[in-house]
Amino acid sequence: MAELVVSRLTKEFGAVRAIDGVSFTVADGEFVSLLGPSGCGKSTTLAAIAGLDMPTAGLIRAGQNIFFDGESSRFVEPEARNCGLVFQSYALWPHMTVAQNVDFPLKLRKLERKERKRRVDEVLALVEMTHLADRYPHQLSGGQQQRVALARTLVYRPAVLLLDEPLSNLDAKLRDRARSWLLQLKEQLRLTTIYVTHDQVEAMSLSDRIVLMDGGRVMQIGTPKEIYEAPANPFVADFIGTSSFFDGELTSGGATGRVRIAGDSEIAVAGTTRIPVGAPVTVAIRPDRLSILASGAPAPDEAGTALHGRVVSRSYLGGRYQHEISIAQTLLRIDGPYVLEQSEVHVWVPASSCLVFERGASRPRSAVRH
Ligand SMILES: Nc1ncnc2c1ncn2[C@@H]1O[C@H](COP(=O)(O)OP(=O)(O)OP(=O)(O)O)[C@@H](O)[C@H]1O
Ligand SMILES: [Mg+2]
Repeated sequence: MAELVVSRLTKEFGAVRAIDGVSFTVADGEFVSLLGPSGCGKSTTLAAIAGLDMPTAGLIRAGQNIFFDGESSRFVEPEARNCGLVFQSYALWPHMTVAQNVDFPLKLRKLERKERKRRVDEVLALVEMTHLADRYPHQLSGGQQQRVALARTLVYRPAVLLLDEPLSNLDAKLRDRARSWLLQLKEQLRLTTIYVTHDQVEAMSLSDRIVLMDGGRVMQIGTPKEIYEAPANPFVADFIGTSSFFDGELTSGGATGRVRIAGDSEIAVAGTTRIPVGAPVTVAIRPDRLSILASGAPAPDEAGTALHGRVVSRSYLGGRYQHEISIAQTLLRIDGPYVLEQSEVHVWVPASSCLVFERGASRPRSAVRH
């Protein structure tokens, strides 16, 4: 199948604009996640691609095959799109066995009995459910039902696989297992896939690229690494990973700039060449590279700042400790293998762990993400 293109897609439900000019492309065989908080428009986008819903405007095409075009009012029925859709609720037929459930789409498509049997056997082996082929859905665990739902979609070989939170009914352990299993399946099949989730770990671990959405709009498109390491705005920095935020003013720019924050402290920051000196900025700090300076120890040999703070909480997370440190009216989180006994510390903040955004439209929802 050729690439799938979604261009300036908009969907209004009465006065509610659920998605607003969403554009992205999924290459042949690529696995792309739509990621974002509840209500950001992920399912609406997926339903529009599947043809379950009529968008208000925009274009959806697979190669030269136009599924929807708002301008010419073209709308291809879902059956003709050859998209395989798997929902969060597996919706298996309760009165059919696993094998019968998987066979059903092939029966509908009037395939010959021998070919049906061959394909059902093949796909059940693929999802490791051969031994449970004669069970009924109520005799299966959530994770097994989810695999049958996927098998029932894979069996008719859809050109595009559309998955809407398929793992969200599973408990944390099972979800973890299902995720690594999906990853193996992805490597094996290389199907063009759009995966909807609000779970960043799922999106990061499974995706070739992520489309991060908020409020019906695309915030950033990139590989998991790009999105984590170079978030386009504070919303992305807040949503992906754990960041602490300081508001301040850029007092000097260039490759290593300086930002004045509350209490007249200054932080050395990297990558401010495109921001004018004097601009109000938000600094997002990633916790991974922060460290505690032992008292009297010299600062590391790199651009950065030692910030003085007060330890306000300590929690044991199993194998490591998490501390919240109050610095200039913001809470900075630091994980480490040892508990910090002292009440006051100096935190080393490398300039390269600070991301600077000119303050404007997109604001983080909280100072520290929980
Ligand atoms: N049929 C509808 N009528 C009115 N508003 C709707 C309808 N369907 C969705 N919406 C609204 O559109 C927005 C996007 O909804 P959507 O279901 O796409 O979100 P989502 O990103 O899938 O969220 P979740 O993670 O909670 O599933 C929401 O504000 C929602 O309330
Ligand atoms: Mg949804």
